[in-house]
Amino acid sequence: MTLKKELTRIAKLDHYVRPEKIAGAIKLDSNENFALDREFILQVVTEAARHVDLREYPIDELEDLYLQLARYTGINKKYIGAGSGSDQIIELLLTTLAANSKAQSRATVFVPTFSYFISRCELHGLTVDKVSLDKNFELDIDRFTKSAKKSNLVYLCSPNNPTGGQLPKKDGVELLDRLDDGKRLVLVDEAYADFSDYSLAKEATRRDNVIVLRTLSKAFGLAGARVGYMIAGEKTAEVFRSTIQSPYPVSTLSLTIATRVLEKVDIVRNVIENIKGERKRIFERLGETNGIRVFRSDANFLFVETGKKYSAIARALEKEGIVVKLLGNVSDHIGCMRITVGTREMNDRFLECVKGTAS
Ligand SMILES: Cc1ncc(COP(=O)(O)O)c(C=O)c1O
Repeated sequence: MTLKKELTRIAKLDHYVRPEKIAGAIKLDSNENFALDREFILQVVTEAARHVDLREYPIDELEDLYLQLARYTGINKKYIGAGSGSDQIIELLLTTLAANSKAQSRATVFVPTFSYFISRCELHGLTVDKVSLDKNFELDIDRFTKSAKKSNLVYLCSPNNPTGGQLPKKDGVELLDRLDDGKRLVLVDEAYADFSDYSLAKEATRRDNVIVLRTLSKAFGLAGARVGYMIAGEKTAEVFRSTIQSPYPVSTLSLTIATRVLEKVDIVRNVIENIKGERKRIFERLGETNGIRVFRSDANFLFVETGKKYSAIARALEKEGIVVKLLGNVSDHIGCMRITVGTREMNDRFLECVKGTAS
């Protein structure tokens, strides 16, 4: 393909649109963690800035991060690889393991799911087979397996963005078993697993074809630091660290910040529990509101169907300076929004606004 043709093809693809930053807004649109105290992060950043010497390449800092990630996950560091956000790890895996060979050019995902992943597959020329979740956003694992078996790459978002739910653990393990025939790579995106009841990370360490993706952008409140990691079989993790990943993928400052936040994981664990409590409270309060359907979530956000009240609620939220992810119609669901669980005060402002408009 000529360069001109390739640029024309790429220009036509859907691409991620960065959210607009609105000064002073209550930001409930990107699943960041504002319940983690800003002063806590600031203190860690200040200490890290004093400690590092940015004139040097990061050498020991990556090792320190691996040790803390191993402590947090309970998984030996030989199974772990790190990157500049899980986005960058996805990108690397796509370009090296999935899109590289002509024979490996199909991906299977269920939909709706994290659209960034689909866009990146399309950018790299992979055909993406989309298996729809049912009307309750549940997955028919037989249908999914059938499509996945024709693919070289399978993506499971667990818990799923934007719907919030996570497959029952036994279905997740069953899927990995069914797809464990050496023919395909299975990516399990666990960006939100810190808020859920289980992780498939241990399963990944026992298999050659499964990579679990995690991030410090969500529960750990470090979206701006850009630190993600993956957990895989020993050989896969080793090849990733030695050859696939670039030598210095994360800045010394970000590595040091991430390591120090992980050292204080009890503070983060507390915040995660608060967010889960708030998730339950918002779920119950919205559930009592006529005409609104809210879906069970295992993540730090909720998927809400507002039907005919969509425009009125969207306008009211905008007027109050509350930003949520407006999704419009999703499959057969009308007027959908994804709402990040914030601090209690942020959540109260959101609930008051919705209740005032919808009732
Ligand atoms: C499912 C999922 N995976 C990955 C990411 C990206 O995470 P990171 O900030 O580590 O690149 C996001 C961010 O929204 C996400 O929702």
